[in-house]
Amino acid sequence: MDRQYRNFFAICGVLIFVAIATTDENPDKNFSNFESSVDICRKCECTNYTDLLILNCSKRDLHNTLSNWPNHKNKALRASFSYNIITTLEQFPASNCSAMLSVDHCGIKFLAPGLFENMKNVKYVDMSHNLITIEQLSSEKFKGPYTNSEFEPIEIIHLNLAYNQIHSLPKSLFEHMPRLKHLNLEGNTLKF
Ligand SMILES: *[C@@H]1O[C@H](CO)[C@@H](O)[C@H](O)[C@H]1NC(C)=O
Ligand SMILES: *[C@@H]1O[C@H](CO)[C@@H](O)[C@H](O)[C@H]1NC(C)=O
Ligand SMILES: *[C@@H]1O[C@H](CO)[C@@H](O)[C@H](O)[C@H]1NC(C)=O
Ligand SMILES: *[C@@H]1O[C@H](CO)[C@@H](O)[C@H](O)[C@H]1NC(C)=O
Repeated sequence: MDRQYRNFFAICGVLIFVAIATTDENPDKNFSNFESSVDICRKCECTNYTDLLILNCSKRDLHNTLSNWPNHKNKALRASFSYNIITTLEQFPASNCSAMLSVDHCGIKFLAPGLFENMKNVKYVDMSHNLITIEQLSSEKFKGPYTNSEFEPIEIIHLNLAYNQIHSLPKSLFEHMPRLKHLNLEGNTLKF
């Protein structure tokens, strides 16, 4: 596998170098940056079905995800933030509903700890086509809420990490994802 991807790896190396050389982003920067949820259904598109609220925030020139979800009662939630420029992906807002989230094609480099801590019933997450490296992937990024002195699992079944910059995976990454069934790592330069 690694031979096949050596050229690609070399190109990636150059891109990573260029990225590092042209930014001074700090991964521990102030994590209080969220897109205001006020009038979010004007900025994005909300489609409110009987059992499902669809939020389309794709291609809205957003730099952050939201501070709160639009009101979705007990309905499932499907939210897309595809094709925005979100350098740091912050914790998603709180919801106890089943959810599908897409943050693909956003140029994401940094992940906040406990991304899904406040929405542990998330089932499907698409983080493909970003700039996520192995340094950003640890079990604490996927931890659930802390109750009774331990982290609850998150319900994620389908995780798409295709087309990022992931070269290996720590086994502990999946510690808080006991239901995970589908993991897509296509288009990464994995070395075993
Ligand atoms: C983050 O930035 C906001 C606004 O610039 C400020 O009010 C807040 O205190 C900062 N939080 C931290 C933890 O530095
Ligand atoms: C979401 O909104 C974007 C931008 O307006 C549009 O291009 C896209 O087709 C929409 N997606 C869906 C599933 O409606
Ligand atoms: C969606 O519909 C429910 C009622 O079924 C309502 O309570 C809620 O406010 C609506 N949400 C939005 C964002 O329109
Ligand atoms: C989710 O459920 C917990 C426990 O029942 C509750 O404390 C919390 O307020 C709920 N969160 C939301 C956003 O509804």
